[in-house]
Amino acid sequence: MAAPLSTMKFWKPGSEAPGISEERHVTTETTGSPIIFNPHTALSIEKQRQKLPVFKHRNNILYLVESYQTVIIVGETGCGKTTQIPQYLLEAGWAAEGKVIGVTQPRRVAAISVANRLAEERGALLGHEVGYTIRFDDCSDPHATRIKFLTDGMLVREMMADPLLKKYSVLMLDEAHERTLYTDIAIGLLKKIQKKRRDLRLIVASATLDAKKFQEFFNLNETGDPNKDTCGILTVEGRTFPVDVFYTVSPVPDYVKATVETVLKIHETEDDGDVLAFLTGQEEVEKVVSLLQEQARALGRLGMKKYLKVLPMYAGLPYTDQMKVFERTPPTVRKVVVATNIAETSITINGIVFVIDCAFVKLRAYNPCTAIESLVVTPISKASASQRAGRGGRNRAGKCFRLYTEEDFEKLPASTVPEMQRTNLAPVILQLKALGIDNVLRFSFLSPPPAQSMVQALELLYALGGLDQYGRLTDPMGVRMAEFPLSPMFAKMLLESGNFGCSKEIVTIAAMMQIQNIFMVSTASTILITSRLPLCLHHRKFAVAEGDHLTMLNVYEAFIKHQKSSQWCQEHFLNYKGLQRAMTVREQLRRLMNKFKVPRTSSEGDPDVILRCIVSGFFANAARMHHSGSYRTLRDDRELHIHPNSVLFGEKPTKWVVFNEVVQTSKYYMRDVTAVESSWLVELAPHFYKQAKVCGHLLVEHLILKSWALIWSWSPLC
Ligand code: CDP
Ligand code: MG
Repeated sequence: MAAPLSTMKFWKPGSEAPGISEERHVTTETTGSPIIFNPHTALSIEKQRQKLPVFKHRNNILYLVESYQTVIIVGETGCGKTTQIPQYLLEAGWAAEGKVIGVTQPRRVAAISVANRLAEERGALLGHEVGYTIRFDDCSDPHATRIKFLTDGMLVREMMADPLLKKYSVLMLDEAHERTLYTDIAIGLLKKIQKKRRDLRLIVASATLDAKKFQEFFNLNETGDPNKDTCGILTVEGRTFPVDVFYTVSPVPDYVKATVETVLKIHETEDDGDVLAFLTGQEEVEKVVSLLQEQARALGRLGMKKYLKVLPMYAGLPYTDQMKVFERTPPTVRKVVVATNIAETSITINGIVFVIDCAFVKLRAYNPCTAIESLVVTPISKASASQRAGRGGRNRAGKCFRLYTEEDFEKLPASTVPEMQRTNLAPVILQLKALGIDNVLRFSFLSPPPAQSMVQALELLYALGGLDQYGRLTDPMGVRMAEFPLSPMFAKMLLESGNFGCSKEIVTIAAMMQIQNIFMVSTASTILITSRLPLCLHHRKFAVAEGDHLTMLNVYEAFIKHQKSSQWCQEHFLNYKGLQRAMTVREQLRRLMNKFKVPRTSSEGDPDVILRCIVSGFFANAARMHHSGSYRTLRDDRELHIHPNSVLFGEKPTKWVVFNEVVQTSKYYMRDVTAVESSWLVELAPHFYKQAKVCGHLLVEHLILKSWALIWSWSPLC
């Protein structure tokens, strides 16, 4: 049975007051002059390029890049910043003599998809003239690639091998408003590099950016003479297509349900056009996908002319599945993409006309008082709302349905708190130190992080052996930890594994932990197939009492034993593509371990050596059983619970555990949990819980920071 027609009521600001009429008043709201576009007229790529608003500014942009070391470009989403500016630079000779134009993206999927589009526009094969580099995947040619898309994290990594980034002539920091951790680190480091390399050009691009703040930061002119400014701003007016924005008449109690209803309403009442719905995380996405698939089948039986094709999109999905959303569909099909905020910036999904925005996002938050980093569902910012709406006006005029009232929209913050101010800083400090920035306190941060977070990070790195008592990077441990493309805790565990006698197993565990959802989640379709046996029982076959880490090891080893068979994965409801990816990640980690001469050793079936090795990296994430039935962190006595997806959930409680991360919903949940012995914590992290013993320079750094923390005892999410 198809669901009854939606009860969702929307209205458009400026139209008749909400509540008076249930009709939606469609008036066109435009920013700048819209281009009259007929989607059925196939324009040549060249003609399409010339129609983009940014084209009119081509010469202006090139002039500014010639004249200023840094250019800030603010332009409506869809005006052509990402795809056109790198090409203008290429055409103007900025990639001559083997130089490269680098464009950073905050997310991997954006780097891949825009690189694809640019290669297509240039009629080139991806990986040659146009390429991309993301973690664990390099699709570029060191000799042939002239325009390279890369994540901001990769750019910071490249600085380790090439501190002045000599191969780049221009770097464009795209979607800078996202202010990811690595965008901010790259910003600080690039300012340093610019002082040494006057020829390096920087473009900071976004649709929603505090341009003045960036200009003040990047302007190296200390003379006071505006003619000597090193940073210029350009605003590109106009967007390609208008987007009408609608709000709900009253607040929505359940946005998951409301999303499903709105999709159905669009399907019933609107003309052609695909739908993109934003939710906060994988569980919600999968839930909406399965509910909509059910509806699609019911509507199919009712003989609806247009078929609904529902596709999920979230970071944990294998890349090949993420890329499916970009495939074109026949006119008899309406595509519905249900995504997290990974689809929010930079990308163009062809055919999307309708956007549904739930108003929430899952963000990383670090509480420096308790040293707990968790994923929290929180309201989006106005900048995010505008980015989300912008995904609807890429190929033709669009409509955005916001599942919140206009009054609630007005209450949203203008922009999201930069990740630098709400994250665990240990990886940042490690990388800055590896790049020769010893005095992290004096590093030029665009938005300085809370001092208390710095204290926690220094304490952790010292305890992991990455810093010495003077706060210097240790050699070899700290230097090697910084080179691993994983968090310092994982790096320590991997580097120590040879000595513990289990490097073979630990490298598998570390690789498997990078893949989300090895166990397939129960969607409607899987439930249908598994009618006789619930999914969790299939997965229990791999579970061991020690916890999630060894369970993942079991799954991987069984996969290899069964000749990496996709059929076998299907029978056991395991994510085949995820396991294939784990193999690739494992291979890359293995290579790094070989480079650092970590001995190849095997535990030969003894679980304790593996568990001890895990503790050597993750001792800071330790919790003990509390008589109330929950767990408490060892560091700060914070209440935690075992995540329902853990194999330890609902099992006989174990007294001590370590975990990989915390997710926060109604409670704080530990994810990837393993039972350990308390004696291992004392033995393997003797200083960690007794910071008073820390001496020398680190103590001084520590005290300065603690007094900072007292003065500015402010943390955005504390
Ligand atoms: O970066 P910005 O949001 O300013 O725009 P862009 O990513 O350079 O895209 C400019 C325009 O190119 C979009 O509005 C689309 O019309 C078109 N485009 C497309 O049709 N398909 C893509 N994969 C990428 C862009
Ligand atoms: Mg863009």
